[in-house]
Amino acid sequence: MNDSLTDHPLERDLERVLLSEGTIQARVRELGARIDRDYEPGDEPLLVGILKGACIFLSDLLRAIPRHVALDFIATSSYGAGARSSGQVRLLKDLDKPVEGRHILIVEDIIDSGLTLTYLKRMLLARRPASIRIATLLDKPTRRKLPLTPDYVGFTIEDLFVVGYGLDFDERYRNLPVIGVLKPACYQKMDEEAPQAGEPRGRDAKEGTC
Ligand code: IMP
Ligand code: MG
Repeated sequence: MNDSLTDHPLERDLERVLLSEGTIQARVRELGARIDRDYEPGDEPLLVGILKGACIFLSDLLRAIPRHVALDFIATSSYGAGARSSGQVRLLKDLDKPVEGRHILIVEDIIDSGLTLTYLKRMLLARRPASIRIATLLDKPTRRKLPLTPDYVGFTIEDLFVVGYGLDFDERYRNLPVIGVLKPACYQKMDEEAPQAGEPRGRDAKEGTC
């Protein structure tokens, strides 16, 4: 799979594009329509976005659901600056309102080990919502450490660290409209010394921006 490139300058840091803007948008529209069909008429689901990675997916998905929905956010932290999980989930921001009796739809960018969502699902279930479903844009089922099956999956991908469309590496690349795999040089910059004043950042600076 190597989808077409756009002319976004940050795309120069990608080794390859996995999902183009058009592919993502079309799939998000499908998911929105399916979610709408699956809830009963009159249900007003509460979409709970997991900050920060899910924010772009959430804002597109929200507009693809043709019924009333409410919106809230949760923030967790399980990853340091690197690309792999520390295995610990911490709640950084809770929901604003009680959810008892509400239909909750958790919206996540990607499920990897399943630790984050297992923790959140358990926490939210204790608040006695009417239902909890999970929508994730990406799923990496081969990385699962805990059994967790999302209700809605945009794309199932192999065990790759991806960035773009909300997903970051060290807080960068969330603003890429596509999803792709970074060039190795862009990971390695984390281990290198900070560049001197006036020096380009990273090894690939001529061809990329990292
Ligand atoms: P889990 O708890 O291991 O399932 O981790 C899920 C979280 O890890 C996601 O919400 C992402 O924020 C982050 N994550 C996992 N895989 C990736 C990736 O490939 N790129 C960027 N972030 C990722
Ligand atoms: Mg996340």
